[in-house]
Parts: sequence; C-alpha cells; structure tokens
Amino acid sequence: SQGPDPAALDRVALAALTHVADGMTLGLGTGRAAEAFIDRLGEKVRRGLRVQGVATSKRSEELAKRLQIECVELDQIHRIDVAFDGADEVTPELALTKGLGGALLRERVVAHEADRLVILVTPEKLVKKLGTRTAIPIEVVPFAAATASKNLRNLGGDPVVRRKADGFPFVTDNMNWILDTRFEPIDDPERTHAEVRRIPGVVDTGLFVGLADVVLVGGDGSVTEMR
Ligand code: A5P
Repeated sequence: SQGPDPAALDRVALAALTHVADGMTLGLGTGRAAEAFIDRLGEKVRRGLRVQGVATSKRSEELAKRLQIECVELDQIHRIDVAFDGADEVTPELALTKGLGGALLRERVVAHEADRLVILVTPEKLVKKLGTRTAIPIEVVPFAAATASKNLRNLGGDPVVRRKADGFPFVTDNMNWILDTRFEPIDDPERTHAEVRRIPGVVDTGLFVGLADVVLVGGDGSVTEMR
C-alpha cells in the first residue's frame, strides 16, 4: 500500500503529454507523478520536441537536465504555458493540498505564472475535504518556527516540524522549515490559507485553491479527467 502504482503514474504522465505542444515553456513539478511526467517529456524531447522547462525543485531540475530538457530560470521567460505537478489531496472543486515533497513555495510561484495547471494523481488522493488524508505543509522562516507553531495551535492546528531521518529539520530549497500541521477536515481552504498566511514568519501553505485547471487521475487501465 506504500505509494502510487508506477504503471498508473506512467499512464497519467502519458495522458498529460497531450497538453504539451512544440515551443511551449512548461512548469516542471516535484514528486513521483511530476517525475513520471518529466521522464515521458524527456523521451519526446529526444525525438525532437522543442520545449523549455522551469523546475520547481533542484531535484526535478537535475532530472530534466539529465534527460536533455532545456531548463530556464524565471527571469529568462515572460510566461509559462502549462505547469505539470502532483498533489497530495484533491477535492471535487479541484482544491489541492501540496508539499509532502517539500517544494510547495516554488510550486505555487510556477503554478501562479502558468496559463494552465495540470495536476497528475492516482485515485487515493481524491478527498471530499482537504486535511482528511494529510497534514497541511506550512513553510516557515526558521527564526519564527516556535511562534508560528503557537499561532497555528491558536487556529486549531497541530504543527510538527518536519525532520529528516537524522533528526535534523528538513530544510526547503529556500532554506526554510516545514511545519506539517494537522487540522480538522478543512471546510474553506481559501480562508484557512489566508488566516495561516497572516501569521508572521509563514512563507506559504500547501493549500492551493483556484489554481488547478485540469486534474488527471490515473486508475488501473484508464485515466479520467476532472475540470
Ligand atoms: C511536492 O512538494 C508536492 O507538492 C508534490 O507535488 C506532492 O507531494 C505529490 O507528490 P507525489 O506525486 O510524489 O505523490
């Protein structure tokens, strides 16, 4: 039961390729689903597709470069045509929880700049309300971790500093920490996001509302599309 079926991820990655056209600038997400997509994209590039990618993590950038996908920085481009990324939870309204891979801040920056955001998931990610399956990742400046935690508890959350196997805090690509924060299932993710963002030292939350245009769900044998 650990992790999504790689064959389902590959099917969803193939389906996502139908949203790619020659000459596009693409947002490259982070995590297993995004990496399945980058793998398939690399294959297309090897066969002559011309695209450039903006990566949402060092890890995804390394993978893209290994596959000869041209990577650019945000200051080298004017717009992003389509961003592709995974998610940890998806509601019927296409609200998302993201950030179990730790790249939420860059993922939001890229998703916000993209004309379209295509999300790749497997069916176990589908929920009625955010906060059902996972804690909400909240990126904080390390200096404010204790005070942000206290303020999150006042909002009804139960924050825990994300740690690596060696016990030290997990550090994001932006040199911040993550507070994985359990809430009761969230009725109004837009409001919760706004309330949490108001806490000093909070840089971003994993609640993505109104950003996803298409969610591709890879089940066994087929891919369904939510809009
Ligand atoms: C990375 O920070 C996350 O937002 C990922 O997009 C999310 O955790 C989904 O990852 P998987 O595709 O590995 O489940």
